[in-house]
Amino acid sequence: MAARWRVAVTRRIPEAGLVILREAEAAGEIELRIWPEELPPAPPELAELLHGCAGAITLVTDAIEPELLDREPQLNVISNFAVGYDNVDVPAATARGVAVCNTPDVLTETTADFAFALLMAAARRIVEGADYVRAGQWRTWGPTLLLGRDLHGATLGIAGFGRIGREVAKRARGFAMTVLAFDTHEDQAAAHDLGVRFVPLDDLLRAADFVTLHVALTPETHHLIGTRELRLMKREAILVNAARGPVVDTDALVAALRDGVIGGAALDVTDPEPLPPNHPLLALPNAIVVPHIASASVATRDKMATTAARNLLAVLRGVQPPHIVNPEALRRV
Ligand code: DGY
Repeated sequence: MAARWRVAVTRRIPEAGLVILREAEAAGEIELRIWPEELPPAPPELAELLHGCAGAITLVTDAIEPELLDREPQLNVISNFAVGYDNVDVPAATARGVAVCNTPDVLTETTADFAFALLMAAARRIVEGADYVRAGQWRTWGPTLLLGRDLHGATLGIAGFGRIGREVAKRARGFAMTVLAFDTHEDQAAAHDLGVRFVPLDDLLRAADFVTLHVALTPETHHLIGTRELRLMKREAILVNAARGPVVDTDALVAALRDGVIGGAALDVTDPEPLPPNHPLLALPNAIVVPHIASASVATRDKMATTAARNLLAVLRGVQPPHIVNPEALRRV
């Protein structure tokens, strides 16, 4: 008997999620297609993979555009293996009755841990120190060797005070930091509980020793941090981005790091992504760049996989998915 729904998974996700999908496959509910390569499918390959599918588990590397949705009118659900969904044209999906799901909550603390790790690595020059030792340059203890910046007692500016931003604020309290936040929606109760003060973005940039970005990528936050904003920051300030690369104007950041406009940057995300090996950011000693791994703990990636699988199957089965971005699309499914 043919399966009821054809389902695509655009890369190998952790087994915890695949187990759920395979159970549905064994029950004759779905026919599973998994993209087997390490690199994402190119747009024509993605179109072929999704052909005839009722649902897909997609990643941040898959652009889900209106043209693709138009070619597959039987598509009911795009279940994104991420909290962010800027790779999906959500209005286009909604207009076509395609549910878009994501994986919030399960990665909040892991991502906040990582943003804090980046902050500490940049402040205390940990990557430079490790490179120094590896390069055989460590000859003695030095009174002025690799001096960094203290986190304790410093001012942290959090741009984007949603789930992840608030978890970063919790960690900052443990370091006795003064915490300022900027968000277009000011959750005063959360700020009060965490001892955080909301300020306009420009004030945050002027006052903070460290600035960490936790906004979603939208047309409003595209290049939220550009030349003007970087110039407002303190000369020693460190910028952390674990949100989305295009929130920062990369060229402006390269110039600011090169010219000493700010002290350093630690980036989990970049624009473009991946960065080509000869990108100027990678030649700067005061920039740390890692490959978009803030949510990459074993436990969290398992939870993202199970959430993505459950979201997908729920929509196909006509029940409320755990996390849907456009619930208005469900009525049309
Ligand atoms: C997300 O979830 O949006 C991350 O960027 C990928 O984990």
